[in-house]
Amino acid sequence: MLQTDVIIIGAGASGLMCAAIAAKRGRRVLVLERANKVGKKILMSGGGRCNFTNLYVEPENYLSHNPHFVISALSRYTQWDFLGLVGDYKIPYEERKHGQLFCLNSAKDILNMLLAECDKTGKVTIQTSTEIASVEMDPEGHFVLNTNQGNYRCESLVVASGGLSIPTLGGSGFGYELARQFGHHVYPTRAGLVPFTFSNQFKAVTERLSGNALDVSLSNQDAEFTEALLFTHRGLSGPSSLQLSNYWQVGSPIYINFFPTLNIGQWLIEKKQSQPKSLLRTVLGEIMAKSIVLELQQLIWPQHSETALGQLPDAVLQEIARQLQHFEQKPSGTEGYRTAEVTLGGVDTTELSSKTMESKKQKGLYFIGEVMDVTGHLGGFNFQWAWASGVAAGQVV
Ligand code: FDA
Repeated sequence: MLQTDVIIIGAGASGLMCAAIAAKRGRRVLVLERANKVGKKILMSGGGRCNFTNLYVEPENYLSHNPHFVISALSRYTQWDFLGLVGDYKIPYEERKHGQLFCLNSAKDILNMLLAECDKTGKVTIQTSTEIASVEMDPEGHFVLNTNQGNYRCESLVVASGGLSIPTLGGSGFGYELARQFGHHVYPTRAGLVPFTFSNQFKAVTERLSGNALDVSLSNQDAEFTEALLFTHRGLSGPSSLQLSNYWQVGSPIYINFFPTLNIGQWLIEKKQSQPKSLLRTVLGEIMAKSIVLELQQLIWPQHSETALGQLPDAVLQEIARQLQHFEQKPSGTEGYRTAEVTLGGVDTTELSSKTMESKKQKGLYFIGEVMDVTGHLGGFNFQWAWASGVAAGQVV
């Protein structure tokens, strides 16, 4: 049986970061990866350019049943620390909207950087195509892992196997099962940062508008995001939908404000005075794609479609404006784990140390990254959590 200091389950974002940091302290690290390649999600992230962190990381950018948990790790390994590493490797990057930082060339730069950090010490071994059949404790308090490639023994075991999202990129429930095996509570999981789907008459609308995008405010009772909305064949996507999906519960409505920066009621009344002979769709066509206006006309003011603005009472215009700024729709669901960027829920963080990520139930057992009940907003926050939690554990395992 091969004996090592640390075994990390999962060669993704958090696992590779943790491996590099632990190896720098002289620890011998074995990373066991089920897939045939490492870091698949990193490579696919940010449309292949990896939105690796964000300039404005705050605890408020994370959802968790235990919201204070993230503070310690995020403050001890910040976006500036990660940027320092990116700078050391001279990786070109750019800032996009809302402080999001993306590689200029390719997400490969980030993966190669992590692998180079792991290689530096010669103390990290990464083994792919490894299926872990069981994890047990031996009488000396070491972990024993039985795998299809042999049996391994270690002092510290780090679970970095991520969440359920996108099974083809490595999404798995392994970490949750292992947590339960060691007596941990696991919050129910659901797909996050994922497009909405519809089965009502609005589905046909999104199909017809598929490919159209516009800036909106999308909200529900818990959150509001002013970002782009994209119509798709299945429903609504784009950053605003992905962001709101983290806060959405099945059966509840969402509200679209099609004019987040305009008092559209007042604007319509002004238009009524300046262009009384125009139709509503004509004036709205000045500030919105005509195809979207035509669909909204069918849904909101079909009975007034051929009435000149001058003939429409102000109260009617105000009611149409209200609907345009508070357009209610009830998604039938989301696209689910097949396309979700993250998994909400997971290992209950009240049973972990916020400084080290160690289990309070089993000495030597650690959970890092997405497997925990910590989910970031869209914009590089999930990777920053993977880096920060990976470093926190890497410093002590
Ligand atoms: P990650 O998923 O990175 O790694 C887990 C690893 O464990 C995988 O390699 C998996 O194969 C392996 N594994 C699973 N089960 C195993 C088992 N039983 N045995 C051994 N290995 C096992 N975030 C962000 O901040 N900016 C972005 O641009 C994007 N973009 C993005 C795009 C897409 C398409 C997705 C799906 C996700 C993103 N994300 C993102 C989210 C981000 O990728 C995610 O939050 C982190 O990768 C999580 O890091 P982890 O290390 O926790 O898991």
